[in-house]
Amino acid sequence: IDVNLDLFAEIERLKKEKNAIILAHYYQEPDIQDVADFIGDSLGLAQKAQSTDADIIVFAGVHFMAETAKILNPQKKVLLPDLKAGCSLSDSAPPELFKKFRDKYPDHIVITYINCSAGMKALSDIICTSSNAQAIIESLPKDQKIIFAPDKNLGAYLKKKTGREMVLWNGACIVHEIFSLEKITKLKIRHPKAKVIAHPECEEPVLRIADFIGSTTSLLKYTIENDAQEFIVVTETGILHQMQIQSPGKTFIPAPPDNMCACNDCPYMKLNTLEKLYLCMEYEEPKIIMDEELLIASKKPIERMLEISH
Ligand code: 13P
Ligand code: SF4
Repeated sequence: IDVNLDLFAEIERLKKEKNAIILAHYYQEPDIQDVADFIGDSLGLAQKAQSTDADIIVFAGVHFMAETAKILNPQKKVLLPDLKAGCSLSDSAPPELFKKFRDKYPDHIVITYINCSAGMKALSDIICTSSNAQAIIESLPKDQKIIFAPDKNLGAYLKKKTGREMVLWNGACIVHEIFSLEKITKLKIRHPKAKVIAHPECEEPVLRIADFIGSTTSLLKYTIENDAQEFIVVTETGILHQMQIQSPGKTFIPAPPDNMCACNDCPYMKLNTLEKLYLCMEYEEPKIIMDEELLIASKKPIERMLEISH
């Protein structure tokens, strides 16, 4: 790329010329959030992907999110700046292993967190995200047996919240598992008025000390509506950008990870850069390509979710 190129202006030009929309997750780097047409959590992004009339969807997020957008828009071009932007949670549930697991519980309904591959979605009855999981579980009859996959931390949190017995798959997110309870506790002593806000992908001991638990969109909303002036944010650091924009006078402290080498940036989300975003819009590559049969099979459980949480 020409170093003198104004990437922000070029991206705006390409959006107009190609009737493209940029959808970005809150975990994307600030520059990408600033050029996005819509920033949201996984549910908001799926809903936006379903309703857009743009010809091209540029997905600034990870692979499973762009794949979901493609499943909802098979006729549209869906671009992802870096195809290697995967997800540890999604990788923790290979469909062939999950199928064997599922077959052991033939009378159970499979609720699967959207952070999974299309192959996993095709083996599921209903998809959920962190913002609608509780409502989706509660939409089922009380005696309905449930398998919840792939996130064991979100699953344990939901079992507690809903009182439902659920069989859990043993998957986790590498970013949300590294927070240190001890360091957050020490931070809280130094900032006694700060509210601890956490994403439900965190482990149970961390969630136990949180003042508020929710999806990225609900965490952001909480920081806007709550009177507190300080927040210890226990999720990926990308969200701090919107929190700071929405509440410029408030202080946001990223929760510390458990050792010096770790950081709470998602290595997959951060593979996307403004340069790669520009290049993928210019050349319309890389794009999501899917097998027709898989596309049809994975669409049903996503549509079932969207019907429940319209
Ligand atoms: P939400 O977008 O539902 O808040 O989930 C966060 C996440 O980890 C996405 O990968
Ligand atoms: Fe996956 Fe965790 Fe990264 Fe979200 S933050 S994309 S769940 S690895």
